[in-house]
Amino acid sequence: MTDKPETTEKAPKIERRQFRAIKGTRDILPPDSALWNWFEQSAREVFESYNFRDIRLPIFEETSLFARAVGTDTDIVGKEMYTFTTLEPETEKLNDLRSIVLGWPDLWDRQQFEAYKRTVELFVQAVEQAMNAPRIPADRDNRTVAQNLKNHAHELMGVSPQHATDFVERVRADARALELGQITTLRPEATASVCRAYIEHGMQTLPGNQKLYYVGPMFRRERPQKGRYRQFYQVGAEVLGPSDAPAIDAEVLEMLLTFFNCVGLTNIKLYINSIGCKECRPKYVERLRAELRKVKDHLKEDSQRRIETNPLRVLDSKLPEEQPIIEKLPRISDHLCDACREHFAKLKDELALRGIGYQENWRLVRGLDYYTRTTFEVSAAGLGSQNAVCGGGRYDGLVELLGGPAGIKGIGFAIGTDRAILSLQESGNLPKLPGLAVFIAWMGAKAYAPAVAIAKKLRARRFSVELPPEEMKFKKSLGLADKLGAKYALIIGEDEAASGTFTLKRLSDAHQDKLDESALLDRLQSELRGPNA
Ligand code: HAM
Repeated sequence: MTDKPETTEKAPKIERRQFRAIKGTRDILPPDSALWNWFEQSAREVFESYNFRDIRLPIFEETSLFARAVGTDTDIVGKEMYTFTTLEPETEKLNDLRSIVLGWPDLWDRQQFEAYKRTVELFVQAVEQAMNAPRIPADRDNRTVAQNLKNHAHELMGVSPQHATDFVERVRADARALELGQITTLRPEATASVCRAYIEHGMQTLPGNQKLYYVGPMFRRERPQKGRYRQFYQVGAEVLGPSDAPAIDAEVLEMLLTFFNCVGLTNIKLYINSIGCKECRPKYVERLRAELRKVKDHLKEDSQRRIETNPLRVLDSKLPEEQPIIEKLPRISDHLCDACREHFAKLKDELALRGIGYQENWRLVRGLDYYTRTTFEVSAAGLGSQNAVCGGGRYDGLVELLGGPAGIKGIGFAIGTDRAILSLQESGNLPKLPGLAVFIAWMGAKAYAPAVAIAKKLRARRFSVELPPEEMKFKKSLGLADKLGAKYALIIGEDEAASGTFTLKRLSDAHQDKLDESALLDRLQSELRGPNA
């Protein structure tokens, strides 16, 4: 046995501090979590009935995937992404070397200056090796920075300390600009990831259209408010393949509305629009820009900026003072090319065929840049300003834009689960979800073994059972059963234990019977699941 070392040190005082979920994030607690599971499970069932299949995607991706797909002038990419750089452990030494290159204090002393130059040389060599491995990003931008660094370092080697300032600054600027890690973003949406996965796995070679759905969290640094969170959840679906038949758009919308109907989200409105293709939209955008320039002085700052960067987004403005101006702007429906006009007309025929009601909204341009032709949104009651519960549309050029094969078309949507559930809760139209079925009220040491055994048997039949770990007084036990919302109390006292029976008490009306094990199992089966279950 070793003696405990004597110590006079006191244990460090632990700061008393309560942790809270970060702003814009939240916990989904029971019983709400059961509602969420039911909602997501219903989506899976409805989507699978349309032959969609689950795709599980990474939560973080290369930042440039979202920049390229969603667009650099969108709110999402411009200001809402959670982006961080991850350094591989082998790159940390290189990072330290960079800090020395950037922070070397005394360059006037000749000896110091010579040592500095040797460090710069070492750094340049290490960068070259890391880029060839590659352990650091080897894209075009980073290669250019590395080449500049090499040239500027070479120039530095030939100067004296008195004339070094500008040369050192150039080397340092390059060193600063060099990306040493992977720039990574928590996904703000999943369409880009689905397309990335489609391309990466060569899914264009698989038979038929790829019909995929996903369920999970997304991240956007928006100002939190009711129905708007920084970690929020989507249930989304995408169809990718060579066809852009309007029947695909219509089937996607039918599936979406079937799902909303299935979960009881009925107080909703579907808005549709066509925003044209790369043939007709640029001409319309120029027209729009020209008209917007004429009224520029009457618009607010955001819209003024968008006239040049992305005029379509001006149509999205909710500012009351801009509404009369926007209403007078040219409408895309009057500027669609023949192919887009025909596509939109056929989509409307298809919707009529399927009995789907909708409202056309010429201003529905959506906040992401990848859309072509069909765009749509669903709004729900009870949500205030954040009333869009679903957004989606066609994105025919996206796969190619992300480096995939040409000619692959796409369409899809994402439902905001947080908002859909809020709307269901506001409407009071909530399903009755099964809770605790049986609370086992056991009393006396002899009752414990039969209680454990019957709990196991009931759970094997997937009834939800609560077995108190310690003996409780009869009244307290039934009180707890009540508070937990159990449907039945299964009473096992010394009597029952001796006779091998159980007293089953229905808590809603206090009706009770003494039953043997097989009668008990039959009774629970028929009362909780119906006679044919
Ligand atoms: P989105 O319109 O950006 O589209 O988002 C879809 C839905 O996600 C919105 O209608 C809303 O219900 C919900 N949502 C968005 N941001 C938040 C937030 N901060 N808090 C709570 N809910 C939010 C997309 O994400 C596209 N990827 C949809 C798509 C799929 N288009 C084609 N395929």
